Amino acid sequence: KPRVFSGIQPSGNLTLGNYLGALKRFAEKQDEGIETIYCLVDLHAITVWQEPEALKRQTREAAAAFIASGVDPSRSVLFNQSQVSAHAEMGWLLNCVARMGWMNRMTQWKDKTQGKNAEQQSLGLFAYPALMAADILVYHATMVPVGEDQKQHVELTRDIAAKFNHDYKTDFFPIPEPLIEGTATRVMSLRDGTKKMSKSDPSDASRINLTDDADTIAKKFRKAVTDPAPLPESLEGLAERPEARNLVNIYAALSNRNAEAVIAEFGGQGWGIFKPALADLAVAKLEPISSEMSRLMNDPAEIDRILGAGAEQARAIAQPILEGALDIMGMVRAR
Ligand code: TYM
Repeated sequence: KPRVFSGIQPSGNLTLGNYLGALKRFAEKQDEGIETIYCLVDLHAITVWQEPEALKRQTREAAAAFIASGVDPSRSVLFNQSQVSAHAEMGWLLNCVARMGWMNRMTQWKDKTQGKNAEQQSLGLFAYPALMAADILVYHATMVPVGEDQKQHVELTRDIAAKFNHDYKTDFFPIPEPLIEGTATRVMSLRDGTKKMSKSDPSDASRINLTDDADTIAKKFRKAVTDPAPLPESLEGLAERPEARNLVNIYAALSNRNAEAVIAEFGGQGWGIFKPALADLAVAKLEPISSEMSRLMNDPAEIDRILGAGAEQARAIAQPILEGALDIMGMVRAR
């Protein structure tokens, strides 16, 4: 049975990259008649230090971002990970299936520890991908919509599921597929077209935050770093121009078109035309989201209620699957 699962870390301001690569697509998946489960992965967030009060605020804000982006809690299961203990329990079981070498090869682990002392990182950061596998597998999810940067983690999830099935001679876990679709699967920094747009980049000008106001959004696009040449007349002309390609892809994703259609409209035009058009489009699409987010944030108790109700639905799905895995692995259960 097809089932979608995906998650976002509530570890700071969500960005345009999170919106186009994840949230917008999460909302669209609801219209395909598939069961959709979406999770704020607070247990993942604490693999690096989080101020406790800030984490609570960011979790509610991320929930508000989901809802403002069109994820409807009456059509999708929406909750925070720590309220469903099956994630942590399945995480342990999969820690015992996954191999250290697999974790060592994860590019996100390598990036996060580059130039730092890996010995000083939390054990949780190293094991992070096994908990992510647990998130997905504890629902027997079959489809995982993510941005490009999470592809390797979903592939690892497939390896973990396959090893479990092999070792225990079972077909208990379905092998999930990463869904990496559309023109904005890797939104790049507005300051450097070779770097991913990220909520943890020290430069605020490098990203559009979902909480930015209209003026800030327009200013960041106007100041986005590009080469001086006008937009090319054909898609091939974007191949060696990462900044131009990024802005065209963002425009395409925001307007639900492909890059080709955007080039057909703007090819040959200079930045003086394209950047203001992009800024206007981005403001028109993002303004309603940020104002809905702040409206929702006025009532944190309501957000907590929604997450609590979502957690209850999530538990009902996850608990029997966790029990199934425990039984297969040889854990005695009361009868
Ligand atoms: P996170 O919180 O870093 O990002 C959430 C989602 O946003 C996507 N994304 C982007 N897409 C396009 N361009 C960008 N610049 C960009 N930046 C982020 C990410 O690919 C992701 O889809 N490990 C995950 C969270 C997670 C998860 C899961 C995801 C935990 N368990 C189970 C799927 C299934 C993460 O850190 O995403």
